[in-house]
Amino acid sequence: MKSNVKHVTILCLKLQMCASCNSVEKKIYVHLNYTVPCVRLLNATHQIGCQSSLSGDVGVLHVLESEENLDWVLSSGPNPPYMVILESSLFTRSVMMKLKNGSSRVAGIVVVAPNTNPVEGFSPHTSCPNENTGVYSESYDPTLAHCNVTVWNPLGNGLSYEEYDFPIFSLKDDNDTQVIRQCYLNHNQAVNGSSPRYPLCAMQLYSHMSAVTDTATCMRRNDINFSISPEMVCDPLGDFNVWASTRPLNNTEKGHKMWEKVVIAAARLDSRSFFFDVAPGAESGASGFITLLAAAHALRNVTQEAQPNRTIFYTFFQGETFDYIGSSRMVYDMENNQFTVDLDNVHSVLEIGQVGLHGESRLWLHSDPVSRRNSSVNEEVRKLIENLQSAAAGLGFTVGEAGFSQPLPPSSFQRFLRARQIPGVVIENHQLNFTNRYYESMYDNAEYLNVSYPPNLTPEEQLKFVTDTAKALTEVATMVARALYVQAGGAENQQDNINADRQIVSQMLYGFLVRSNNSWFQQLIPSDLTSHLSKPTNFYVGVNQQSSEPTLLVQYLLANLTGSAINITQENCQNQREDENDKESKHVRHETGFCVRSTVRLSRAVSPAFELRDYTSKDYSTWTESRWKSIKGRIFLVASHELEMLTLGVGVGVLLASLLLTYIISSKADILFSSGREPT
Ligand SMILES: *[C@@H]1O[C@H](CO)[C@@H](O)[C@H](O)[C@H]1NC(C)=O
Ligand SMILES: *[C@@H]1O[C@H](CO)[C@@H](O)[C@H](O)[C@H]1NC(C)=O
Ligand SMILES: *[C@@H]1O[C@H](CO)[C@@H](O)[C@H](O)[C@H]1NC(C)=O
Ligand SMILES: *[C@@H]1O[C@H](CO)[C@@H](O)[C@H](O)[C@H]1NC(C)=O
Ligand SMILES: *[C@@H]1O[C@H](CO)[C@@H](O)[C@H](O)[C@H]1NC(C)=O
Ligand SMILES: *[C@@H]1O[C@H](CO)[C@@H](O)[C@H](O)[C@H]1NC(C)=O
Ligand SMILES: *[C@@H]1O[C@H](CO)[C@@H](O)[C@H](O)[C@H]1NC(C)=O
Ligand SMILES: *[C@@H]1O[C@H](CO)[C@@H](O)[C@H](O)[C@H]1NC(C)=O
Ligand SMILES: *[C@@H]1O[C@H](CO)[C@@H](O)[C@H](O)[C@H]1NC(C)=O
Ligand SMILES: *[C@@H]1O[C@H](CO)[C@@H](O)[C@H](O)[C@H]1NC(C)=O
Ligand SMILES: *[C@@H]1O[C@H](CO)[C@@H](O)[C@H](O)[C@H]1NC(C)=O
Ligand SMILES: *[C@@H]1O[C@H](CO)[C@@H](O)[C@H](O)[C@H]1NC(C)=O
Repeated sequence: MKSNVKHVTILCLKLQMCASCNSVEKKIYVHLNYTVPCVRLLNATHQIGCQSSLSGDVGVLHVLESEENLDWVLSSGPNPPYMVILESSLFTRSVMMKLKNGSSRVAGIVVVAPNTNPVEGFSPHTSCPNENTGVYSESYDPTLAHCNVTVWNPLGNGLSYEEYDFPIFSLKDDNDTQVIRQCYLNHNQAVNGSSPRYPLCAMQLYSHMSAVTDTATCMRRNDINFSISPEMVCDPLGDFNVWASTRPLNNTEKGHKMWEKVVIAAARLDSRSFFFDVAPGAESGASGFITLLAAAHALRNVTQEAQPNRTIFYTFFQGETFDYIGSSRMVYDMENNQFTVDLDNVHSVLEIGQVGLHGESRLWLHSDPVSRRNSSVNEEVRKLIENLQSAAAGLGFTVGEAGFSQPLPPSSFQRFLRARQIPGVVIENHQLNFTNRYYESMYDNAEYLNVSYPPNLTPEEQLKFVTDTAKALTEVATMVARALYVQAGGAENQQDNINADRQIVSQMLYGFLVRSNNSWFQQLIPSDLTSHLSKPTNFYVGVNQQSSEPTLLVQYLLANLTGSAINITQENCQNQREDENDKESKHVRHETGFCVRSTVRLSRAVSPAFELRDYTSKDYSTWTESRWKSIKGRIFLVASHELEMLTLGVGVGVLLASLLLTYIISSKADILFSSGREPT
């Protein structure tokens, strides 16, 4: 009986609180149109990212002018909590950590994205990317673990890996932000140190996240929820790797030892930034995979005419940013006889990393000092390095060998080395730490790679325009292609016939970094998928059950660049595509209706931790992304202080009355309830 009464009291209290929050007068009421949130991600042990409360967080706008000005937000301002508007120059670790520490007075943060990149550089990533899931563990070589020798990303401030218990959004510096600034100037600015008067301009941000704590917790809740309703709280990060080979491989025959060896040519596809849907990855991803696509194209004719003895296996890995999801899965599949190629068949690995030249004329070859202690591995690595150096002869740059005692930079090849000592080299534009000043940030974009066009060109003219960046990457692709051919056992005298196409490189740079909705990409991909094409591609891996835009684009591009068009009917093309036993994949090209025959295939890029249901795995990526219902933001004026006090007064009055009522009911409960129950 008594506990029932308590329930009534609590219910009354809740009603009172909502009565006062609903009565806040909203004079103007502007919805923000282009909001980019930071979302919650979880791994085996932590949650990172941002979230609002279920009903959105409300705060009085405060445009932060300098770091000293933080005092207003954190202690002196009279109207907390505040919604802090940050110019990008103040989006630093020091400011963010102070705001995080003072989160009781901070309702949320809005970062205004600038229209030009900050010259001093910015990387919200860690300074030692994928520190614990590469090959350099304590057991492999303790002197090389934890970026002990080289800190690859010294500018990394780690903001992307912090947890915030308020929402953080990004807005483009445009009309939306102008409305916000104006609202702040008109209503909230403190004049001569006096506190601003009501009504005040406030903002509400919604980004409530369903998942909490860590991946094991949210996967358990998924399982529980699934038995009741198919409502998930989080999903594993994942997508598809794209691969192709110069010789058709029987895709139904898994894990067999082939007579021929394969040379793996790898690049990574994905990238990320602090915010959910801006990950341009120009240098960190695109420079490498565009180079590899162009190299594959340059090798099409020569590998058809004079097939070298080893097969070249092109692969584009997804999810590498999050503890090597794509490469760890492929290696896992190889080890478990679930993949077309077996680890025994791998001859060597050539990986293309960040290769934007930025006007420099030097590239660096990185290799693993530990496996090179084995003399046969060392011999193969040395040959591959010589091979690359002679392939670069006559091109516009030189290639040097990075220090012999330095470990590999973060790279997919590390996951192969974890399984076996395989000879291999990673090509980068840096000898020591990254030259990329915007690693895994929203500024690693076309502007940073110097992909820009003379004014007044139409989109069609821009697509075709050959920039200096395109010229440089074309040369890199030529070197890669020539080296791969020799590495596969091809004749060295063929090298002059292998040249990458600068027109194709230009078009890829435009398509991936400037506008994917262009006439070329529209021709390549099936018509039902063209509607997804947008602005610059977002390379964040996401939680895709079907392949995402970057995966699709690379898949169809690779088919176009390495395959051949055959004149058969659309139905035949469709039928043969579904034939899984086929050695080749086929798809219909949208415009001409031609059938394209190629060896391009997709393979699942979801971490083996989720296959094994080992959500606390130390070997495999455990990253999941929380689900959410709505992401939105709006600004409005909150009512005058007097009105609010009045509302509060009425609320308190009603509350007292109800408490009194509850007290009377509970003290007379014996009389009120039990007498009726007693059988007479
Ligand atoms: C965090 O805030 C508390 C007061 O709320 C303060 O005493 C402490 O020094 C702050 N810590 C940092 C690291 O700023
Ligand atoms: C790297 O590791 C070695 C051996 O553990 C240690 O002696 C050395 O001080 C470390 N160097 C740095 C820069 O931490
Ligand atoms: C990064 O490397 C360059 C040389 O490549 C060096 O001058 C610079 O000091 C390094 N930066 C850091 C922060 O270590
Ligand atoms: C999970 O992420 C956090 C934050 O980046 C990191 O400190 C921790 O080591 C990660 N846990 C595992 C098991 O990788
Ligand atoms: C932004 O505002 C200006 C003038 O107020 C207007 O000319 C322009 O069309 C607006 N842009 C957008 C995208 O609404
Ligand atoms: C968002 O778009 C709507 C409709 O297009 C417009 O009325 C509103 O003013 C826009 N919001 C801002 C902040 O510009
Ligand atoms: C602020 O102070 C200055 C001088 O102290 C004075 O001239 C000005 O009128 C004041 N402004 C307002 C709005 O009170
Ligand atoms: C592929 O391998 C399977 C299983 O070994 C075999 O049945 C099939 O005939 C092969 N297909 C081709 C085209 O060689
Ligand atoms: C490849 O061969 C085709 C015809 O077989 C020819 O049209 C094309 O120009 C060749 N490409 C290169 C790069 O040599
Ligand atoms: C490649 O294979 C052919 C025929 O099988 C053989 O004659 C040749 O020696 C091989 N080349 C190399 C480099 O192994
Ligand atoms: C690739 O695309 C180009 C232009 O879109 C087209 O002319 C060519 O025939 C295509 N090649 C293949 C093999 O599909
Ligand atoms: C394709 O084949 C059909 C008949 O098989 C033929 O009529 C047509 O001209 C061919 N098209 C091309 C472009 O070769």
